Amino acid sequence: MREVELAKTAGFCFGVKRAVELVYQEAEAGQKVCTYGPIIHNEEVVADLEKKGVRVIHKPEEENDGTVIIRSHGVSKDIYDAFENRGGNVVDATCPFVKKIHKIVKEQSSEGRKILVIGNPNHPEVEGIVGWSENGAVVIEDEKQAQEFSAGEDEKLCIVAQTTFNYKKFKELVEIISKKGYDILAVNTICNATEERQTEARKLSARVDAMIVIGGKTSSNSQKLYEICKNQCENTYFIQTVKDLPLDELENFQSLGITAGASTPNNIIQEVLLACRK
Ligand code: F3S
Repeated sequence: MREVELAKTAGFCFGVKRAVELVYQEAEAGQKVCTYGPIIHNEEVVADLEKKGVRVIHKPEEENDGTVIIRSHGVSKDIYDAFENRGGNVVDATCPFVKKIHKIVKEQSSEGRKILVIGNPNHPEVEGIVGWSENGAVVIEDEKQAQEFSAGEDEKLCIVAQTTFNYKKFKELVEIISKKGYDILAVNTICNATEERQTEARKLSARVDAMIVIGGKTSSNSQKLYEICKNQCENTYFIQTVKDLPLDELENFQSLGITAGASTPNNIIQEVLLACRK
């Protein structure tokens, strides 16, 4: 009998799982539901929700009376208030780790610190974080921008990070800014869900004969997982769904490991697991 091991951290992180479950709960309760932006980057899940009547909106004005669900990335205070003021119901599925950043940014900016966010300025999570500052914020994401950064002479800073930012890079950028002599409060707000998934994948792929990584073709975190596993295990396969499983080839292996990228739904993971155990 072949041994098949599924990584505990395969698939959705805690925040995304919670957000997706909230959407299903609301939809099944028969509410008129929409999400502000797609709830996750997975077309199948978004299409399945659409069948259940869940629409995706892109502006608060697009929905006046139904339930609006804010996804795990969170939103700026302005957008949050716009939804609250419509009269409809708001279900806030912002990940608690992101919420914590909003709180820090709001408090520290109101106490006069200038907010510096280390992350991708075009990512919705970062746009949301910036929007909780009471006096604007600067976003930087690389060494050059950190070198070029300057603030007023007596200005105090508060530095936070996008939850998925690389820790090593965050530390490097904070070091560059620290050398400039400002009064700095740097809070490491990086979430370790991604790192834990990668670490577990690395260990699992090192002890199995073949490794399967499930994820979307364009998902960069899934691609990264594949590379990590391939480094440890030559027989690593990157698949989208159970249909891509190379069942004949897998016959040659005594032990299999399975992991999945951050936006891979549990039902797809379970289907693959089942097919591998047959
Ligand atoms: Fe996921 Fe929340 Fe971390 S959405 S990646 S658990 S910040």
